[in-house]
Amino acid sequence: MKTILITGGAGFIGSHVVRLFVNKYPQYKIVNLDALTYAGNLENLKDLEFKPNYEFVKGDITDLKVVNRLFANYHFDGVIHLAAESHVDRSISNPLEFFNTNILGTVTLLNAARMEWQGHFEGKRFYHISTDEVYGSLGSTGLFTESTAYDPRSPYSASKASSDHLVRAYFHTYGLPVVISNCSNNYGPNQFPEKLLPLSINNILNNRPIPIYGKGDNIRDWLYVEDHAAAIDLIFHEGKNGDTYNIGGINEWKNIDLIYLLCGVMDAELGRAAGTSEKLITFVKDRAGHDRRYAIDSSKLMRELGWKPSLQFEEGLRKTVKWYLANQEWMRHILSGEYEDYYHKQYGE
Ligand code: NAD
Ligand code: DAU
Repeated sequence: MKTILITGGAGFIGSHVVRLFVNKYPQYKIVNLDALTYAGNLENLKDLEFKPNYEFVKGDITDLKVVNRLFANYHFDGVIHLAAESHVDRSISNPLEFFNTNILGTVTLLNAARMEWQGHFEGKRFYHISTDEVYGSLGSTGLFTESTAYDPRSPYSASKASSDHLVRAYFHTYGLPVVISNCSNNYGPNQFPEKLLPLSINNILNNRPIPIYGKGDNIRDWLYVEDHAAAIDLIFHEGKNGDTYNIGGINEWKNIDLIYLLCGVMDAELGRAAGTSEKLITFVKDRAGHDRRYAIDSSKLMRELGWKPSLQFEEGLRKTVKWYLANQEWMRHILSGEYEDYYHKQYGE
């Protein structure tokens, strides 16, 4: 029996990680700590509510009292830390919130783990989930490897880079058993519709413009969210303490090409004439400091732990579109604020 703290489990990636761990490891108790910010949604985890090895705790990772009390009560064997402010555009308009959650929140958890585990680090693990954005922006060639120098360029990526440095500092200074992974852009069910793909799906569905920043020639490396969750499972159990693993889809797309592909899939799924959705594409003002290209070299993870992405992109995109079309209530609740009603009914507060 192990007790594992997963932070940010009500968010996009976190909910897939919680589901994987709760279902795959009935012998683990999974405690999901999430503040339920605008991005946290318990509807993502409806199917797990009554599982005996799952517990949800509403709380903030920056709240020292809450975090220390949880460590004292549950004596966690491991932590998988995903809670974060995650959207680059929001970090540009509201940077302080990102430094608070992503930096102070991470160090609050690290310190609680250090105090709780002091003198008995054996079998314990603090796993920090990070992003490829810490490496900065690539030109037209090359890939980010685990030894690429950090060069974050947005308040979001700078806050994630800071948290990575803190995690490594706790490894070198205190011997805390840590592991870090840096992943590329995820896509799939349950992603909040502020990010490019769910936002575009929702806009196409409602015949609203699809906003493309700049010329649409920025490049991202896309990975299906369940493939990220599978990598997290592997790294949590088999990764080496103190190590970093890059995770990527080997799947680079120019934003505009990705949106053309999406428009085609949406037309087919909605029974619209080919070419209908792409008429909604609208070029808008570029994101400030917009990173040109991300591309990940995941060969270390593949070679050492045997991971590889399971889905072809076109297949994953079709699966994703079908999910959003079949779950329009989910989207409607998020957009209309009805989600709050769900939470009050469910938890009575
Ligand atoms: P998300 O925004 O969908 O979810 C974040 C979750 O964290 C939400 O449930 C939110 O309520 C919770 N949270 C935020 N602040 C909190 C706080 N102070 N205390 C407790 N909970 C809090 O994010 P996501 O896209 O699922 O990303 C999860 C993690 O993975 C983040 O650390 C992010 O940096 C990293 N990551 C994301 C991607 C991606 O493409 N989405 C890629 C690589 C790495
Ligand atoms: O690379 C990993 C990162 O991927 C994660 O760490 C972040 O949490 C996650 O949000 C994501 O960051 P991006 O900024 O790459 O994702 P986003 O979906 O916001 O944007 C993807 C690309 O699309 C980017 O080049 C900006 C562009 N874009 C985005 C939006 C929201 C548009 O052109 N129009 C838009 O409306």
